[in-house]
Amino acid sequence: MRLVHAVTAAAGAFWLNVGYTPLHQSGKAVPLPYLLWNLTDFYLIQEVVWNYGAGVAGRRFLSPRNEKFLWFVKNADDYVFNLDAIRDPDVKYPRQYKNGRLKVNPLGKNPTDVWQFAKVTSGYQRSSAERTPHPAQFPEALIERVVLASSEKNAVLLDPFSGSGTTAVVAAKTGRRSIGIEISGEYCDLAVSRYLAKKESLSGLLLQ
Ligand SMILES: C[S@@+](CC[C@H](N)C(=O)[O-])C[C@H]1O[C@@H](n2cnc3c(N)ncnc32)[C@H](O)[C@@H]1O
Repeated sequence: MRLVHAVTAAAGAFWLNVGYTPLHQSGKAVPLPYLLWNLTDFYLIQEVVWNYGAGVAGRRFLSPRNEKFLWFVKNADDYVFNLDAIRDPDVKYPRQYKNGRLKVNPLGKNPTDVWQFAKVTSGYQRSSAERTPHPAQFPEALIERVVLASSEKNAVLLDPFSGSGTTAVVAAKTGRRSIGIEISGEYCDLAVSRYLAKKESLSGLLLQ
């Protein structure tokens, strides 16, 4: 986190997603963000909860259905936040007026700090279209919201645990550049081929 802070742009952000850990004597599944939140020079804006819909069933505890993101920024007074780029168009009463003025933003509502995106699934007849062999792949739509909210076009995204390369794919889709770091050569190859395939499909779209 110290190194990420050092290379983050002045108005840049740091989105941290880590899971849960058992802590002997004191907790079965302690959210790691709760242990890490103040061990960085970044300023914490908010916790965002990702509700992913389906997963394992608990027997002596509630079935887990969320992961947490901590949204940090480098400068609490000056940071990129493109709310209009991530508004939720699913508004219940879009045509409500007050004193002759439309009450609801025509682009949609603030998506709140609880985000619902389906997990990338595998398995016969239920595998997501974007599924790769990586076991912990993020849905593109989830990372797209992070990227659109916290960066401008042509910004450089750094993902130091890039896995299957979801951040790079989203960078290609949204007009950002990206740097990925990954310890496994196999996943590096996977990320590169996934990125190139996305670039090719996007250039096909542009040509049409
Ligand atoms: C949870 S996965 C990330 C998945 C990614 N968000 C995606 O959508 O595919 C974490 C990745 O970090 C990699 N990793 C673990 N330790 C690492 C290290 N010290 N340096 C770089 N990568 C590492 C793992 O190999 C794994 O692919």
